Amino acid sequence: MLSGCNRSGGQGITLAVGGAPNEITVWEQLAESWTIRSGVEVNIMRQPTDTDLRRQGLIIPLKSQQRDPDLFLMDVAWVAQFAASGWLEPLDRYAAPGTIDTTAFFTNILEQVDRREGRLIAMPVYLDCGLLYYRRDLLEKYGYTSAPETWYELVAMAVKVQALERAERPQFYGFVWQGAQYEGLVCNFLEFAGSAGGGLAFENGQVRADTPANLMAARFMHGLIYDSKVSPPNTFTEMREEEVRAVFQQGDALFERNWPYAWSLHQREGSPVKDKVGVALLPHFPGGHSVATLGGWHIGVSVYSNCKEEAAGLLAHIVSDSVQVTFAERLGWNPARRDLYDRRELQEKLPHLDVLRAGFAAAVARPNLPYYTQLSEPIQRYLNGALSGELTPDAALEKIENEMQQVVERYGRE
Ligand code: GLC
Repeated sequence: MLSGCNRSGGQGITLAVGGAPNEITVWEQLAESWTIRSGVEVNIMRQPTDTDLRRQGLIIPLKSQQRDPDLFLMDVAWVAQFAASGWLEPLDRYAAPGTIDTTAFFTNILEQVDRREGRLIAMPVYLDCGLLYYRRDLLEKYGYTSAPETWYELVAMAVKVQALERAERPQFYGFVWQGAQYEGLVCNFLEFAGSAGGGLAFENGQVRADTPANLMAARFMHGLIYDSKVSPPNTFTEMREEEVRAVFQQGDALFERNWPYAWSLHQREGSPVKDKVGVALLPHFPGGHSVATLGGWHIGVSVYSNCKEEAAGLLAHIVSDSVQVTFAERLGWNPARRDLYDRRELQEKLPHLDVLRAGFAAAVARPNLPYYTQLSEPIQRYLNGALSGELTPDAALEKIENEMQQVVERYGRE
C-alpha cells in the first residue's frame, strides 16, 4: 500500500515526547530503529519536562486540527481531558490480537484511564509513583540504620546531617521536593496530605479540601522551608523534578522526593551519588501510612493524523514487551505491563523493583476528570502562595476549597 507516511518520499509520522535529556535520547534511538524495521520515518517532537507546558504544547495543534503530531505522550492527569475533547483516535480497530495485547497490562489502569465508553483510546507507557531517595552513605556515617518512616523522623535526621555536612558543603540541604507552582506541587501535596489521612474528597457534589489533615500537611510543607529549614528557599520558585534531581545528584541533599526515573540517572557513570543511593517508600505522619501519588504517561493517536495506521503501529511497538523492558532497564520506568514485574533480569537491574511495586500498591490517583486541570490550578496557585508566605496555609486551604467547589459546580454536571 502506498501512503504518504512511509519513507519513500512520504512525510513520515511525528511522535511528541518530553522529559529529561536521557529520555529523549532513548526516544530518538527507538525512532531510528523503528524506521529501519517498518520503513516509516519517525520525527521526534521534543517537548519540555514540565507536564503543564507539555499539555499546552499539544493543545495548540490539536485545537487547530493540525495533523502533526500523529501520536503523543499524555500525563495520566490529562488523558480524560483529551479524550473528552475528542482528540484521541480509538485504537480498538488496530488492536487486532497480537498487535496490542491489552491483557498483559494492569487492568485497573486500563479501565480507569485508557478506556472510554467501551473504546480503547490510549495505552499506558509507564506508571509513576512518588518515592523517597536517600543517601545511604550519609545515613550510615551519622549512625542511622534505616530510612525514616515518619515525616518527623525525616526532619530530625535532615536537621542533624544538614548542620554537620554544611561544614564541608555550605549549599547542603536535608530534603528537596517539588514545590514550584505546577502540577508536581499538587502531587507532592497529595502525598503529605494522604499520609496524614487527608486528600481531596468529593461527597455528593461537595468538595472537601479544607480539612485538619490537609492543614497539617500544608503547615508541615511550609515548616520544612521556614522552621526546620531543611528545604531550600527556592523550593517554591524553582523546584520541579529536574531541579530537585540535580541538587540531589550533585551530592547536595540527604533526601529527595522524586519519581522512579531519577534512579537510573543517579546511578549513571560519573554521577557523584552513584552507588550511594537508597530508595524507600515516602514517610508518613504518625498513625498514617505512606502514600504515593499515582502518575504516569500514556500514549494516544491524534484523530487529526493522516497516518493513523502507521502511528498505531508505532504505538503497539512502544507498549510491546521488549520496548517496555528497555524503558525499565535504561530509564528506570515502572513498566505498565504487569507481567514484567516478575522477570528475573529486570529485578537484577532494578534492585528496588519491590519498593516500586509497594509504592504502586499504595498509590493514590488524582481525580480522573476531563476538567481535572481546572481543579488543580487553584491548588497549585494557593498552595504555592502559602509556601512563599503570601498567605497562611489556613487561608490557602479555604481558598482552594472554595475555588474547587466553583469548578465542580461549573463543570461537574456535564
Ligand atoms: C510525573 C508524573 C505525572 C505528574 C507529573 C507532575 O511526570 O508521571 O503524572 O503529573 O510528574 O510533575
